[in-house]
Amino acid sequence: MYNAKAYSAGSATSHLESATIPRREPTEQDVQIGILFCGVCHSDLHQVRNEWSDAMPTVYPCVPGHEIVGRVTEVGSEVTKFKVGDLAAVGCMVDSDRTCPECQAGQEQFCPNFTLTYNFPDKHLGGITYGGYSESIVVDQNFVLHVPSNLDLAGVAPLLCAGITTYSPMHHWGVGKGKKVGVVGLGGLGHMGVKFAHALGAHVVVFTTSPSKTGDAIRLGADEVVISNNANQMEKHANSFDFILDAVAADHDINAYLNLLRRDGNLTLVGAPEKPLAVSAFNLIMNRRSLSGSPIGGIAETQEMLNFCGEHSITSDVEVIPIQKINEAYERLLRSDVKYRFSIDMASLKSE
Ligand SMILES: NC(=O)c1ccc[n+]([C@@H]2O[C@H](COP(=O)([O-])OP(=O)(O)OC[C@H]3O[C@@H](n4cnc5c(N)ncnc54)[C@H](OP(=O)(O)O)[C@@H]3O)[C@@H](O)[C@H]2O)c1
Ligand SMILES: [Zn+2]
Ligand SMILES: [Zn+2]
Repeated sequence: MYNAKAYSAGSATSHLESATIPRREPTEQDVQIGILFCGVCHSDLHQVRNEWSDAMPTVYPCVPGHEIVGRVTEVGSEVTKFKVGDLAAVGCMVDSDRTCPECQAGQEQFCPNFTLTYNFPDKHLGGITYGGYSESIVVDQNFVLHVPSNLDLAGVAPLLCAGITTYSPMHHWGVGKGKKVGVVGLGGLGHMGVKFAHALGAHVVVFTTSPSKTGDAIRLGADEVVISNNANQMEKHANSFDFILDAVAADHDINAYLNLLRRDGNLTLVGAPEKPLAVSAFNLIMNRRSLSGSPIGGIAETQEMLNFCGEHSITSDVEVIPIQKINEAYERLLRSDVKYRFSIDMASLKSE
C-alpha cells in the first residue's frame, strides 16, 4: 500500500479538499497509472452531495472521478496489455465478476457484481474505491483502455464516461443515416451525443434551455436547435423523431419529448436527476413509443468508442482547470455553465 494525493469530500455539504488516500501496490494483473487528466462528470457532483441516497448512498470521504487518462508507471508481472510509458484510460468500472452471463457477453456494465471506480466496496484494500481526482490509480489490466495516439489528452478524459454513455445507446437504438435524432441538454454528455449522432450520419436536433448555446450546438454538429421552453418550436417537431437522448441532470418534463417521437420511437434517459420523473401513459401509448435508460457501456464497447474517436478525430470540448478550482466548477455545472466539460489538469495536485 502507498499514499496518493487526492481531493476528497468529507460530507454531503463539504467542499472537496486536498487529502491523502491509500492505493494498493500493483498485483500481478494490475496497471498503475499516473493520472494526467480527469474529467468532471455531473455524476461526481450527484455522488459527492449524496443526491442518489436511495440508489447509491455516498460513503465518506468520497474521492470522485471516472474519466481518467494518464500514463502507465508500473505493471504487474502478468500484465500483457500495457507497458510502462503507455497511454492508458479508466472509466466508470474497475472490476466485475467476469463469470456472469453479462460479463461473458462483454456487457460488464450490467454485471450484478461490478466494482465502480469510486464509492464501491474495494475488494483489495477494504473500504471503498477512490476515483480519479488523484495523482495515481491502480486497476486490473482488463479494465484499462488503450488511448489513440492522435487525440488531445485533456479532451480524451471525458470520453471515458460522457463519451461511452452517449455512444452506447446510439448504437443500441440504431442511430445512423436517415434517422432523426434529438439530444436534450447541451452539457458534458449532450455535446458528446451531438458529435456521435452527427458522425454516424443522423439528422441531429439539439434541445436546450440555454439560447446562448445555439451557435455552439451547430458547430458541434447539430442540424437544428430548439429552445425547449418555446412551445411553438417544440410543436413543429411533433411525432417526428426516431430517437431522443435525454442527458439532463435536473428535474424536467419528459412528456414534452415523448410527444416528439414518431411510431415506435424511443426516448433514452442517460441523465439521472435526483427526483422521479412523471410520465403520462398516453404519451407512451400513442405511437407505441418506448422509454428506456442506459448505463455507460462495456469495456469492449468503450475501446470501440475510443477507436472510433481516434478515426474521426473526436474529443470532448474541454475547459481545463486546476484541481483547486473544482468547487467553483461544481457551482458552474449547476448553472449549466460549462463548455462543455471540465477536465482537471492533475499536474495541479503536485503543489498540494
Ligand atoms: N446513464 C449513465 O450511465 C450516466 C453517465 C454519466 C452521467 N450521467 C448523468 O447524466 C446527467 C448529465 O450529466 P452531465 O455530466 O452531462 O451534466 P452537465 O454537463 O451538467 O449537463 C447537463 C445539461 O442539462 C441541461 N439542464 C440542466 N438543468 C436543467 C433543467 N433544470 N432543465 C432542463 N435542462 C437542464 C443543461 O443543458 P442546456 O443548457 O442545453 O439546457 C446542462 O448543461 C447527470 O444526471 C449525470 O449524473 C449518467
Ligand atoms: Zn460520469
Ligand atoms: Zn459479471
